[in-house]
Amino acid sequence: MHVLSIFGTRPEAIKMAPLVAALRREPRVRSTVCVTGQHREMLTQVMALFDLEADHDLDVMRPNQSLNGLYGRLIAGADAVLEAEQPDCVLVHGDTTTAAACAMAAFHRRIPVGHVEAGLRSGDIRSPFPEELNRRFVDSVSSWMFAPTPSSRDALLAEKPPGRIWVTGNTVIDALAATVERLESDRPLAATLEKRHGWVDARRRLVLVTGHRRENFGAGFRNICAALRELAQRDDVQIVYPVHLNPNVHDVVKAQLSGLPNVHLIAPLGYLDFVWFMQRAYLILTDSGGVQEEAPSLGKPVLVMRDVTERPEAVAAGTVRLVGTSPERIVGEARRLLDDPAVHAEFCRRGNPYGDARASQRIVDVLCERHTAEFVP
Ligand code: UD1
Ligand code: UDP
Repeated sequence: MHVLSIFGTRPEAIKMAPLVAALRREPRVRSTVCVTGQHREMLTQVMALFDLEADHDLDVMRPNQSLNGLYGRLIAGADAVLEAEQPDCVLVHGDTTTAAACAMAAFHRRIPVGHVEAGLRSGDIRSPFPEELNRRFVDSVSSWMFAPTPSSRDALLAEKPPGRIWVTGNTVIDALAATVERLESDRPLAATLEKRHGWVDARRRLVLVTGHRRENFGAGFRNICAALRELAQRDDVQIVYPVHLNPNVHDVVKAQLSGLPNVHLIAPLGYLDFVWFMQRAYLILTDSGGVQEEAPSLGKPVLVMRDVTERPEAVAAGTVRLVGTSPERIVGEARRLLDDPAVHAEFCRRGNPYGDARASQRIVDVLCERHTAEFVP
């Protein structure tokens, strides 16, 4: 069976890396990889870490690209690769423009699509934007829907007949487990990271921040920055913010937060380094999907700067709280966690609602029509 995996952004690469490795190990599969290059620097970081090599690179990224321009370049580029490779199946991941356009290109050529991380739903077509629509669209053309959790399976079953849906766990937990294992077992590597990030102040509590959602552009990001400015007045915290390269994020954040003594605006971190920072964080403020999934496995409290989430499991488990983007709410919830150890301890209960690090093998088993036990949280 010839399986063509297509991905193009940082989170897709992190989450597809363990699956591509499992496909490579499977004798019944011929695995090829196409990167779209929807992201450039942030993709390259992940490809190098996980030793991923692309057979095709569509190189579509443009500075401050528009969604429609991107979509057009993706359709044309993916079509040429499908023509050349003639795969039996195309795997795409999640909810990006890469996933939607490449699923569309495969559908037009009547090539079956497998959707990794199927069935997440916020219930609001405008948030995350445009990802909620992308994910629904990819599910609607997929022959295999790999739902990470029982609740994503249930969301699919509310829309579609059974038979093409499997609960696999999320491959991000495969990637995280492998990375944590590497950080714990490779002492010289751990020493290198300690040295590289020697400026981190162990006497202050680390508040780790990420953000990039389109629905937060403009007022949302200005509010987030106002909240961070206020939190930065405390001298018992150190705020570390690896800033996404999207100019709609980068330019606002730099303008609003540069020069504050305990706010460290840094370049996007490689995954190994980011996991190292998550392990040390007292609290994480984010609008990222992947970080919401990783934090419960690390036992880290997360305040999600969004109004809705398509990942309800960690909210139900109590590790993640939705706080929107109002500065008062962000600062108020952060203060509770910083000032009340009992509240912090409640958030820190470790759990694995998103996976058991065996998702990739389950997906390969399904593709090879072998029996596989579904993921049970
Ligand atoms: C995309 C995905 C989003 C995902 C996010 C992860 C869509 C619609 N959105 O959003 O679902 O959560 O990636 O980060 O697919 N840039 C660089 N270098 C990079 C990466 C980005 O310079 O390595 C800049 C470029 O100017 C680029 C811009 O960021 O045009 C926006 O990138 P794009 O992929 O369109 O959007 P994201 O906001 O990253
Ligand atoms: N991440 C990273 N470096 C960073 C910030 C995040 O490697 O500087 C990782 C993070 O651990 C998670 C993924 O990138 O696995 C999330 O990516 P992003 O927030 O860009 O996208 P989303 O998950 O929201 O789609």
